[in-house]
Amino acid sequence: MPSFRGHADVALIVLAADKGAPGVTTAAAALAAVWPRPVLLAECDPAGGDLAYRLPAADGGVLNPGKGLLTLGATARRGLEAAQIHQHTQKIIGGLDVLVGLTHGEQAAGLAWMWGALGRALAAVPDADVIADCGRLGAHPQLGDLMAESEQVVLLTRATLDHVAHLRERLQVSKAHGVVVIADPRNYRGSIEDVRRIVGHSVQFVHGLAYDPKGAELLRGQWGGRLDRSLLIRTARDLAGRLVSHR
Ligand SMILES: Nc1ncnc2c1ncn2[C@@H]1O[C@H](COP(=O)(O)OP(=O)(O)OP(=O)(O)O)[C@@H](O)[C@H]1O
Ligand SMILES: [Mg+2]
Repeated sequence: MPSFRGHADVALIVLAADKGAPGVTTAAAALAAVWPRPVLLAECDPAGGDLAYRLPAADGGVLNPGKGLLTLGATARRGLEAAQIHQHTQKIIGGLDVLVGLTHGEQAAGLAWMWGALGRALAAVPDADVIADCGRLGAHPQLGDLMAESEQVVLLTRATLDHVAHLRERLQVSKAHGVVVIADPRNYRGSIEDVRRIVGHSVQFVHGLAYDPKGAELLRGQWGGRLDRSLLIRTARDLAGRLVSHR
């Protein structure tokens, strides 16, 4: 298996996808919401972020879309230290720390230098794991510099033939530890097993996360009991436990 520069105490975990929009941002938010250890949710998608518009701020208001990766990148030209990161994070309801992503993809053009340094800083954030949403792979090869710093790279996919075919190609050129299938609850185990048959030999694990439109919708609102009982969150809790145990 590929070796990644992991850190014994805390971990950087990268979530990404090949084509389509299987639900990387949703999975990252759901996992961070139930992560069994202190965690920072970092939106590192070069195509631009969604979290500022989706997650409720700790005071019930909205997050500042201008504060996050962009401000970090602007101040970090002289060097990017892990200790700087928290000056650019925001708290959402429940106290989760979020590093909000770029507001649009064009900003990534000036930040190509940043990804490796960002990966090193995120991997060295003290006292918290970092879940990084890296979006779709392919368009920004420099993102590989960030991924190389992570302890786990997890690729998300739907169980459809086209998604899995692209994923299989992706796994030929990109290293990944595991795959997570956004699986229809009506055929949950079967969908995961189908994907495992096709790509299971290239990764250490293939797990699932429920396809749950209601849960995904609740995740964008005020977090509460109904979200907590959703299939999305219940399967995210199971997945989080598995990811932590793989470490
Ligand atoms: N597990 C899920 N169950 C049901 N719907 C989902 C799930 N995950 C995501 N969705 C829905 O799919 C759409 C895309 O989700 P999301 O933004 O998380 O995908 P993404 O892979 O991050 O896409 P992009 O590449 O555009 O950033 C959204 O409408 C979201 O509500
Ligand atoms: Mg996304």
